[in-house]
Amino acid sequence: MSTGDDRAIGIFDSGVGGLTVTDSIMKLLPQENLIYFGDTARCPYGPRTIDEVHLFLTEIMGLMEEQDVKMLVIACNSMTAAYEKFRPAHKVPVIGVMEPAVRAAVRATHNRKVGVLGTQATLSTGQYERFLHAAGADLEIHTQVCGGFVERVEDGDTFSEELFALAEEYLNPLMNAEVDTLILGCTHYPLLTGVLHSVTSGEVELISSADEVAKDIYSKLVELNLLRRKRQVGSRRFLVSGDPASFRTVGSRFLPGLDEVESMPWPAAGSLKVSA
Ligand code: DGL
Repeated sequence: MSTGDDRAIGIFDSGVGGLTVTDSIMKLLPQENLIYFGDTARCPYGPRTIDEVHLFLTEIMGLMEEQDVKMLVIACNSMTAAYEKFRPAHKVPVIGVMEPAVRAAVRATHNRKVGVLGTQATLSTGQYERFLHAAGADLEIHTQVCGGFVERVEDGDTFSEELFALAEEYLNPLMNAEVDTLILGCTHYPLLTGVLHSVTSGEVELISSADEVAKDIYSKLVELNLLRRKRQVGSRRFLVSGDPASFRTVGSRFLPGLDEVESMPWPAAGSLKVSA
């Protein structure tokens, strides 16, 4: 029997948010070798323009492809939105996080009123509305930019009173609009599920794309004959452009076993454009 393709899957985000997707990938595809990159030196991406996010996306895709990955997983809605808008060139298959979330939301809604929480960069493109309308022309869609959520998650805050106040401010209009389903349109937000569930009194279905994305990756690897067919658990590397120690401290709260985090060793790391 063939042992399949040993090359790693490349997964990336601005920070710890993509670990939500990585967690699902590790459960469904434990044998795969993974390389994760968090661009923590430039996080958050959300308040940036979509053009700047596109620039970062093309840099990271290039860096990942230099690592000879067999697939790119854009574990970030802001970068997926840029990908959908600009369609940058790539050599290996690419999986994003928006379509899988839309699929799950359309399956879940009963009253056809769907809310989308996201970053400014993601929601500025209108791509969630386009995907949702393509999946269900009758859907009523309500979007909400959630400034400050990403910074709090990166800081390890999933419980503060300020966070609850912010969540109430963002979610009350959506509750008043009677959405029954809420897309967590930023991969950091599933880490706030406790707060969001509490603030919505459990009355809204919270949709994370992570499990759907992992299923898409599995199917794509099968389709392209790229699965690694070995019983042993694959290797995992976690790389960041910022401080490895703080990524490990926060990341290991969300992804048990995240022991070792490296500074990005690629020569090109030094050339990554860092703006405030
Ligand atoms: N987790 C990313 C997303 O899904 C990035 C958020 C950010 O850096 O602002 O959009």
